[in-house]
Amino acid sequence: MTISIIVAVSSNNVIGAGGKMPWKIPGEQKRFRDLSLGKTVIMGRKTFEEIGKPLPDRYTVVISRTKKFNFSNCTTVSSFSAALEKFKHKEELIIAGGARVYREALPLTDFIYLTRIHRDFSGDVYFPEWDESAFKITYTRRINGPIPYTYYTYKRIE
Ligand SMILES: NC(=O)c1ccc[n+]([C@@H]2O[C@H](COP(=O)([O-])OP(=O)(O)OC[C@H]3O[C@@H](n4cnc5c(N)ncnc54)[C@H](OP(=O)(O)O)[C@@H]3O)[C@@H](O)[C@H]2O)c1
Repeated sequence: MTISIIVAVSSNNVIGAGGKMPWKIPGEQKRFRDLSLGKTVIMGRKTFEEIGKPLPDRYTVVISRTKKFNFSNCTTVSSFSAALEKFKHKEELIIAGGARVYREALPLTDFIYLTRIHRDFSGDVYFPEWDESAFKITYTRRINGPIPYTYYTYKRIE
């Protein structure tokens, strides 16, 4: 099984503000869609509630100890390890945040698809510290615009 983190991070490492994405940049989320289509996507309850519904054309796994979201294309588990155990037969698991889910996934992840937003944002949720030296960058693409950003792929060094 491959574990892949997908995240968009500001220059000052912010990923969330007041329960929402801190920015709205047209086109920036296309990479998330392209990378996650048809796959199993794991996310924390607050991230799920912000999106408001299971992701179309994907299977959504919500981590929560307080609520249950069970639909034909969505289930709830009580911990990150329970999610891994339940879906270990899948070819790839996509980790979609928030902070605690990323923290637990970082030591295990094979890929980090990180979008760096080249601007500081204020916020209250940050991407955790991680060991960049354990990964090599295999893809970089900068997109210019009013708020420029760069898509990176980090692959764990074997
Ligand atoms: N920039 C990005 O790429 C990105 C990606 C995702 C999210 N975000 C942003 O990040 C913010 C949300 O992140 P967050 O860190 O505050 O919340 P979150 O991880 O989305 O949700 C937190 C909740 O999920 C459950 N949970 C998460 N990890 C768990 C674990 N290991 N074991 C048990 N329960 C767990 C708990 O739910 P219960 O309280 O129900 O038990 C916890 O209160 C929002 O602002 C969102 O927009 C940004």
